[in-house]
Amino acid sequence: TITRREDYAPPAWRIPDISLAFDLDADRTRVRAVLKVERAGDGPLVLDGDDLDLKSVAVDGRVLGEGDYTLADGKLVIPIPGDAATVETLVEIAPAANTKLMGLYASGGNLCTQCEAEGFRRITFFPDRPDVLSRYSVELKADKARYPVLLSNGNPVASGDLADGRHFARWDDPFPKPCYLFAVVAGDLRALEDSFETMSGRHVKLGIWVRPGDVEKCRHAMQALKDSMRWDEVHYGREYDLEVFNIVAVDDFNFGAMENKGLNVFNSKYILADAETATDADFDAVAAVVAHEYFHNWTGNRVTCRDWFQLSLKEGLTVFRDQSFSADMGSPAVKRIEDVRALRAAQFQEDAGPLAHPVRPESYIEISNFYTATVYNKGAEVIRMAATLLGPENYRKGTDLYFARHDGEAATVEDWVKALEDGGGTDFGQFRLWYSQAGTPSVTADLAYDAAAKSATLTLAQAVPDTPGQSKKAPMHIPLKIALFGRESGSLLGPEQLFQLRSASATMTFENVGEPPVLSINRGFSAPVTVETKRSAADFAFLSAHDDDPFARYEAMQQLMMDRLVDAVKTGGTDAAPLVEAVGRTIRNQALDHAFIGESILLPTETMVAERLGANVDPDAVHTAREGLRRALLEGVGRETWAALHAGLSDGVYDLSADGKGRRRLKNVALGYLFADADDGAVAAAEAQYQAATNMTDRIAALGLLVDTDAPARERVLQDFYERFKGDALVLDKWFTAQALATGEGALEKAIALSAHPDFTIRNPNRFRSLVGALAMNQFVFHRKDGAGYRFVADKLLEVDAINPQTAARFIAPFGRWRRMEDARAAMMRAELERIVAAPGVSRDTFEMASKSLA
Ligand code: ARG
Ligand code: ZN
Repeated sequence: TITRREDYAPPAWRIPDISLAFDLDADRTRVRAVLKVERAGDGPLVLDGDDLDLKSVAVDGRVLGEGDYTLADGKLVIPIPGDAATVETLVEIAPAANTKLMGLYASGGNLCTQCEAEGFRRITFFPDRPDVLSRYSVELKADKARYPVLLSNGNPVASGDLADGRHFARWDDPFPKPCYLFAVVAGDLRALEDSFETMSGRHVKLGIWVRPGDVEKCRHAMQALKDSMRWDEVHYGREYDLEVFNIVAVDDFNFGAMENKGLNVFNSKYILADAETATDADFDAVAAVVAHEYFHNWTGNRVTCRDWFQLSLKEGLTVFRDQSFSADMGSPAVKRIEDVRALRAAQFQEDAGPLAHPVRPESYIEISNFYTATVYNKGAEVIRMAATLLGPENYRKGTDLYFARHDGEAATVEDWVKALEDGGGTDFGQFRLWYSQAGTPSVTADLAYDAAAKSATLTLAQAVPDTPGQSKKAPMHIPLKIALFGRESGSLLGPEQLFQLRSASATMTFENVGEPPVLSINRGFSAPVTVETKRSAADFAFLSAHDDDPFARYEAMQQLMMDRLVDAVKTGGTDAAPLVEAVGRTIRNQALDHAFIGESILLPTETMVAERLGANVDPDAVHTAREGLRRALLEGVGRETWAALHAGLSDGVYDLSADGKGRRRLKNVALGYLFADADDGAVAAAEAQYQAATNMTDRIAALGLLVDTDAPARERVLQDFYERFKGDALVLDKWFTAQALATGEGALEKAIALSAHPDFTIRNPNRFRSLVGALAMNQFVFHRKDGAGYRFVADKLLEVDAINPQTAARFIAPFGRWRRMEDARAAMMRAELERIVAAPGVSRDTFEMASKSLA
């Protein structure tokens, strides 16, 4: 069945209070729920339930007989004659048998919950929708030896021992919340503890709960938590509101983390980190996700969503907030580059394919399928544009008004935009189209120079492509940061301007332009659009040397690379001279920081090149072109230059400063170029780096290159890595991933063989993704000509679908790109999608994704 945004109707019953009593046990947990219900509309009380064994129902103390209620299709319908009642249910659930990892489940001997979006109905009968807000009071009882720690939302109010080696704990959450924010954790856990004093002087007890032995790996996460708490006070005026804030890390988790009120539950991948086992990117991801979940306390929890079509209200905003936080804590330029790269890799592809949908979708079959790059990352870009248009002060006035108006409410995207308009003093009428029109707008920009008149005219035009179910779109409100540079002087001709493109086409005139200008446009990536210009390789090389906006400078280099790659695929041409020049100049530029250099000289991925080609893609040709350019840069810039760069950055103490991370970044990019022809010298350098590494960043970088050779060093380092880290699940994931990303001889056979390795399991989502997910991302191997890559991924996807649909459904997207591939591959990809759609017992999640991909 399809749920549509236009069909929203407010709930017929409010539930101001709920108390829950859990008798916890991995095989059989009893849940008693007492609901205070109040009539808000017509009709009986309808409660959702999924996989619950109902033991009894009572209304106002009277136990109902079978004829007094109905239970069918996941709905418990209880007629209630008056306007208020107390409804009590008792159910039993089986956490250890819960392989979907939604609701209450077992992970590593502990018990935990995941409720967003619709998992609470797998714990007890309740209106499982975000606009029903309740105060929760929770009692947990469990065996004390097995589950010494008992956590829930809110503040702890009581705990103690019971008979038979059992104990209990009671938690009260004073803030009304929707049930998707409910959480319970029971287990043998240890905490890294700390405290935080809020801006009004309240003391908050902080705890990060992990397996005994992992406590020391929580220090980075704890620092990020405290930094986030302070940052939200300073930048949004938001203070934390409970006496405690707990985080729990679990190994089995369907996605990154969850913002349950006062009790965030995390995939351990985003908590545990130390130099031995985590890369610099992992450390950054830990801090970003900790911040993200913390920021949800206001954007998501205090102000929640009215319905799931409003998901970007909390997710887009919270991503924008975590991106801003990370930028403030590290290098804003590098952070922007990373965020745009991620947006282009995931969201632009989504927007250009069969699964394209607006930031605020209009309908869904399974809401879990809409936790997408569009809702999250494009949603964040939309808020960034609003903030750009308003300026920092007015943006803050807008957000203050939003919190003042909607604290304690379930709000809509419209409420948010209205608050920005009213608080910021602007009109976002046309801007709202960003929420309703799908597809990445394309902007064309043409600059004409009149030397006699000393003026330049920029002609801009925009088009929004058709997407499934949407055509003939209206022009969008696009903020474009623009500047001109003098080709002779190399300097800025006047200040940067913010041009608001609002019509299908427009012109912009620049006066007093005394020399031929070069256009710098969409600086800082001010709008999530593609830009087409007639700029030449010389223009991009010029901008890569002179643009003062770091993003634009990076972008110029990327354009230079992309144009070469596209040309190489189409014509076999490899005139890399201007690019070699530009790369050489960039790595010699002492004024640039290492991280920035590393980012800007990185070749676009094969997937990005395929995306750019648009149609009739042959992944073998893309691979050949990219490898060719990599070798051309090795030769052109010079092997000695790369070797010297690599060696020069190799010493120095390990630390997590921006400088330290930058050095490692550039060093490993240099090693990557050195490795372009995998000659003996390069293999030896990589193996030496692998062996000498004091940290995971350097070790995995070397391993990631060595997996592509058939030199004996390959097996040596793989074996060594396995032996060193076999007890650490998160690091073992990296071992699987490195091999799944390999492209050498027999890469696919080797990856398939790994799926029979004793450490491989489809039950752990991280492990599943580390092999099968990575392989689906490995364009060259996934798209192997004979279709064996497609078959393997589809087989595994169906296997996991039977036990965990949410994890399975995410693997459909790579097949959804079939229309862009050359005919033979397109036909094979289609055939796999057809097989998946027709598979007996296929989940609703996977069915929705696969059938839409075929349509
Ligand atoms: N709200 C969580 C976060 O972004 C993610 C929940 C994902 N839920 C899902 N059904 N995919 O922080
Ligand atoms: Zn989120």
